[in-house]
Amino acid sequence: MKKLLVCLLAITMSVGLLACGGSNSEDLIVGTNAEFPPFEYIGDNGEPDGFDIALIKAIGEKIGRNVVIENLEFSSLVASIGTKIDVAIAGMTVTEERKLTVDFSDPYYEAVQYVIIPDGSSISAMADLEGLTIGVQLGTTGDFIVEDIAGATASQYQKAVDAVNDLVNGRVDCVIIDRNPALVFADKFAGQVVALPGSQFGFDAEFYAIAMPKGDTELANKINQALKDLKTDGTFDKLVSQYIEE
Ligand code: ARG
Repeated sequence: MKKLLVCLLAITMSVGLLACGGSNSEDLIVGTNAEFPPFEYIGDNGEPDGFDIALIKAIGEKIGRNVVIENLEFSSLVASIGTKIDVAIAGMTVTEERKLTVDFSDPYYEAVQYVIIPDGSSISAMADLEGLTIGVQLGTTGDFIVEDIAGATASQYQKAVDAVNDLVNGRVDCVIIDRNPALVFADKFAGQVVALPGSQFGFDAEFYAIAMPKGDTELANKINQALKDLKTDGTFDKLVSQYIEE
């Protein structure tokens, strides 16, 4: 009898374990696009790393969800929320258009578009951008800005670094991309390119937030609370200084 009980207990426990380990109900599938340093990039170990990745993992810990990162094309992220992925963190700017299909968490970082120009170029103001071929990452706010520049053509890339490579090769006249990646690329291609602040061109401030399924207030509340907690307990600032050269 005792043996039977022990046996039953063992079976119950292993079924329980299987249910936990095997089921992925507690996984939070997070879409990103690891082509956007310092927020997300492929680390030395071949896995996505960066500020956003560390932030969402810290959030996952706070809300008791195991974070699984899916590296996707940036332009496919919004449409994948609720199907392929649960949420997206990708230095994603809150825009009115995106808000039609997804909800956003509280903003966690302020950004602005920068203009990367060849070293020695005379581009310095909005009027200089008119009629140019401008490298952008497909589907980003930089891409959308080019639509409003008179006579300018967007040269769209899946990977931001390819736009910068083509700037160095002379295939595009400049690149429009968010401030921190612009600074990272200017550093990487030092002597060949220079990054100019968007304020010079009249670009507005943008705010990054986590994109979530529309109407999932329970998840939104949890994520927002976790964000607040990470700010008060100092984790957020620690990650900023660990990953971002301000
Ligand atoms: N902030 C810009 C946007 O939301 C660019 C984001 C690009 N992010 C990325 N992980 N590739 O459109």
